[in-house]
Amino acid sequence: IPVDQFDLVIFGGTGDLARRKILPGLFRRFCAGQMPPDARIIGAARSDLDSAGYRQMIREAIAEFGGEQACGDEQLDAFLAQLEYVTIDALGEAGWSELQKLMEGSDRIEAYYFSVAPSLFGDIAERLQKWGMADTRARIVVEKPFGRDLETARALNKTLATYFNEDQIYRIDHYLGKETVQNLMAVRFGNMLFEPLWNSQYVDHIQITVAETVGVGGRGEYYDKSGAMRDMVQNHLMQLLCLIAMEPPARFDPDAVRDEKLKVIRALDPVLAHHIVRGQYQAEPCNEAENPGYRTAVDNPRSRTESFIALRTEISNWRWAGTPFYLRTGKRMAARSSEITVVFKDTPHSIFGDEAGSHRNVLSIRLQPNEGITLGVTIKEPGPGGMRLIDVPLDMSFAETLDPEDIEHVDAYERLIMDVIRGNQTLFMRGDEVEAAWAWTDPIINGWVTRNDVPKPYDHGTTGPTDAEDMIRRDGRKWRKITQ
Ligand code: BG6
Repeated sequence: IPVDQFDLVIFGGTGDLARRKILPGLFRRFCAGQMPPDARIIGAARSDLDSAGYRQMIREAIAEFGGEQACGDEQLDAFLAQLEYVTIDALGEAGWSELQKLMEGSDRIEAYYFSVAPSLFGDIAERLQKWGMADTRARIVVEKPFGRDLETARALNKTLATYFNEDQIYRIDHYLGKETVQNLMAVRFGNMLFEPLWNSQYVDHIQITVAETVGVGGRGEYYDKSGAMRDMVQNHLMQLLCLIAMEPPARFDPDAVRDEKLKVIRALDPVLAHHIVRGQYQAEPCNEAENPGYRTAVDNPRSRTESFIALRTEISNWRWAGTPFYLRTGKRMAARSSEITVVFKDTPHSIFGDEAGSHRNVLSIRLQPNEGITLGVTIKEPGPGGMRLIDVPLDMSFAETLDPEDIEHVDAYERLIMDVIRGNQTLFMRGDEVEAAWAWTDPIINGWVTRNDVPKPYDHGTTGPTDAEDMIRRDGRKWRKITQ
């Protein structure tokens, strides 16, 4: 179903995110027939280009990053014809009247995507208002990082609130746009099977792992000031934690869902120093030039920023008190693998005796790659032997179970941008949520600063520092294997 007519202005329209994700994603929506033929996409950036030059740039970007779902040259030409470009100075006056003229007199949905450094959010918002483009029809989309602590996030929220209402602000966390993340809600709230067991009485613990094989790449300058805690835990892992732990919202609507997520964040226990392990990756042996160690990659030989983190926290509420949540993320790890695992408790009594072994049900929700959901169940080992138990997966790999013809793969950014046009904020973070997440994160980071904490080195292509294994082992548990 096509969305309503819209004009989308992308500040930072020549930048990395626009070229890699936003425009190829919009092209795929165009191919799927979801973009109305008169919708306009207006790139706005500092580079001195005209619309023809911009279309050429985006043609190249789609060729490089568009993926296999692109749909033919004729369609591409038609899509590019919907693009315009304005050279604009976010901090000055140049280009603003031209943009205003383009947007004038339209009664379409107006969306402004701030794909720029957060330090420019305030300036752009102010100029949108000054030039009459910040009326109540306008929607703005902002990218992370949304602040670097509670204070800066509050200030940013306050600045944006000067010009826009909360229901006009779309704070992107692209993890919320991932297919399986939404499936997680469908599994939890669309089935009778799981919800009665979804609490500390039946769940032993929950693990959330987001392992990456990439290093910090060319983002060293940003990353070294952030680290895994700010870059991944405060936002992506926190959102996954919320969705797995929240109470059932009364409706699948933006505020009902976000109210429940907020309650989870506010109920999170502070993390004790011995429940957290930070790590920093080392160079790949014999291949240092291609895969340098973290400190070389960020060009800071004394860096104390973490590229890996593992922690244990708890949620102090009726549902979850006593159930640990283990979170882990890192770069240059053994495999790219994002997974949420719910490990259920042992049966209260084994009627089969010790020899049969003790087995646990494990529900694993795999975000990427090979998205799918697996429930491990215990059965009798087939054959003539006695009653020996084994675990087998009840598997639902989306790719295998559903007819590939019927699955339309939608990238997180595509889904989220279309939601902006539809005016649906369910998959976007509300201001109070972001602040609550920083309120939990700040004391952890401040603790490292006070203690002069130095991250533990870990080898390229591993599961992180051995201390992370020790941390969970002390609790009598172990991390799930990281497999591609
Ligand atoms: C980004 C982080 O938000 O998410 C990156 O800044 C990280 O450091 C990326 O690599 C991971 O996203 P995905 O979709 O590849 O899992």
